[in-house]
Amino acid sequence: MQVGAYEAAREAGDFLAERHPPPPVAVVLGSGLGAFADSLDDAERLSYATLPHFPMPHVQGHAGELVLGHVHDPHGGRVAVAALSGRVHVYEGHPLRLVVHAVRAMHAWGVKAVVFTNAAGGIDASFAPGDLMLIRDHINLMGCNPLQGPNDERLGLRFPDMSAAYDPALGECVRQAAGEVGVRLREGVYAAVMGPSYETPAEIRMLGLLGAGAVGMSTVPEVVAARHVGLRVAAISCITNLAAGIAQHPLSHDEVKETAAIVRDSFVGLLRAAVPRIAAEVER
Ligand code: HPA
Repeated sequence: MQVGAYEAAREAGDFLAERHPPPPVAVVLGSGLGAFADSLDDAERLSYATLPHFPMPHVQGHAGELVLGHVHDPHGGRVAVAALSGRVHVYEGHPLRLVVHAVRAMHAWGVKAVVFTNAAGGIDASFAPGDLMLIRDHINLMGCNPLQGPNDERLGLRFPDMSAAYDPALGECVRQAAGEVGVRLREGVYAAVMGPSYETPAEIRMLGLLGAGAVGMSTVPEVVAARHVGLRVAAISCITNLAAGIAQHPLSHDEVKETAAIVRDSFVGLLRAAVPRIAAEVER
């Protein structure tokens, strides 16, 4: 018999809690953005294969491991953090409950906040490849929701509120971190589509009219599941390419990976500065 989502998360959370106290913050790393995990001090790597019910990612640039480590805080101390390197996507054919399992497992472990990151196509005319965008809100155009089906009240409410899904206080932590490390931080709305084909130029014009600044194929199911269980959320898109029709050339996953590699240092710097601030905020 298939284990329920709550039981699966509980099992993973208990497995982790038996080995490590939960860090206040977990970071989910998007396509080609795994460098943050490599930057952590005193890191311990746990393959998803060893973690209860964790699915293995298939996409290039996704490692499939939970990295436990530390970053420095501004007072000379250090803060524990968990990096989830290798998310699974709905377009890979994974059931939604597996796509969001890691997020629920973080909550069951005792994590308080999750910082989601992703690679995204830039729609806002002022964005350039390599920009980092704080996600202020999202539009779910994936045609699915991880909370579809019977609701388990042990996870959360049947109709969870999404009016401040992207926590304003955590967003402010990211803004302050960007100022501290000298990263120009853009802001906008993230539109989530199913993929895996990139959008057509007409679809991108539509998304622009809807108010989207960037488009991607992840994050939204995980944010919905995170809010359902009461995790606080921040999210950052790496604008890896201009979206279809805005770019004058065909889109490719190679371009996404190349840009992610170019912004690696500023992206890692921003996250390393943001995590201690977010940890302080959620532990207040
Ligand atoms: N569209 C959708 N997803 C993406 C893109 C894009 O242009 N770039 C990176 N992920």
